[in-house]
Amino acid sequence: MWQPARRLSSCDQTEMMTKLSGQVLGPLDTPTYGKCLMKKAIALCVFVFFVLPLFTGLILCCGAEAPAFRPDQVWLDASGQPIQAHGGGILQYGGTYFWFGENKAGKTYNHRVDVIGVSCYSSRDLYHWNNEGVVLPAVKNDPASDLAPSKVLERPKVVYDRHTKQFVMWMHVDTADYKYARAGVAVSNKPTGPYEYLGSFRPDNSMSRDLTVFQDDDGKAYLIFASEDNRTMHITRLSDNYLRPTNETARVFIDQSREAPAMFKHEGKYFLITSGCTGWAPNAAQYAVATNIMGPWRIKGNLTTGPGSETTFGAQSTFVLRVAGKPGAFIFLADCWNPDDLGDSRYVWLPIGIHGEDLKIEWRDQWDLSVFK
Ligand code: GAL
Repeated sequence: MWQPARRLSSCDQTEMMTKLSGQVLGPLDTPTYGKCLMKKAIALCVFVFFVLPLFTGLILCCGAEAPAFRPDQVWLDASGQPIQAHGGGILQYGGTYFWFGENKAGKTYNHRVDVIGVSCYSSRDLYHWNNEGVVLPAVKNDPASDLAPSKVLERPKVVYDRHTKQFVMWMHVDTADYKYARAGVAVSNKPTGPYEYLGSFRPDNSMSRDLTVFQDDDGKAYLIFASEDNRTMHITRLSDNYLRPTNETARVFIDQSREAPAMFKHEGKYFLITSGCTGWAPNAAQYAVATNIMGPWRIKGNLTTGPGSETTFGAQSTFVLRVAGKPGAFIFLADCWNPDDLGDSRYVWLPIGIHGEDLKIEWRDQWDLSVFK
């Protein structure tokens, strides 16, 4: 095989000469050769005792960094790309977490990104995520479609219906002026899609913008959405197959102008976390509590404390994740929107402290699941 010519060092030359004339001059008879051996021995020692440990240490430090959540830092997927799952939610299914969210990897203009679709990432430990691709892509060849790039597709949430064995995705679909205000639904028989878009609704004939889906222990699922032109939050039960809204509806945060709903249940109590309506700009979170999902609900106030709590640490709620296998462990998921480069919006995940009806979230630069006892 051809190899590039290598310039010989004086040591190499001496060694070669010695080899060539080995019969005449034994290697140990040559003072130059002895020096070279000495040089090589020193070089080997330097390599073994200094260079090698230094590199091994560096590799261990960088490569084996303990897994942790780092709120508001760039979060890379397993292939080294920033995760694109904004306004997202997480489904736990068969020992794997599936994170669905808005893919905003396009150009930001007028504080929007044309619809790319819903991304899905999978993980078994919540720290490391594999990109499963865009599982519900924009529809490029039909400008009238709810999923046309010029429209709005936000806050996708997926639940699994164990009776129909279908994965059901609900999302906010809208026109660029946010006047369409509808809830869209799509289905798949695999968590990673592809999802088939079925159409959109105005649940109970009401406007529906920011939304989430909550699945109760009894298998019933609910759509929670900012309605009445974002003045009041609605909770509407979904049909048994999760594909349509029923007319069973409750009103919460009446005339409070709340959005970005995230719901969870703990020890028989329902908690609903929301943000104020200030577009991409962050504001103070508020939560309400109820023992019946249809109310009455009691507004409890801000659940974040300490510096940054007046803006939810610069973020906006999107979901609350129940950590599998750790009773009472819930993670608050929020988006730190960057309106000038929406694709660079970061994620803020923080543990929720629960004391009876009182919720508390504090800022942490870094944390891991060991905070949950
Ligand atoms: C926010 C909403 C986001 C997005 C944004 C557009 O109020 O929570 O999901 O719709 O407005 O400005």
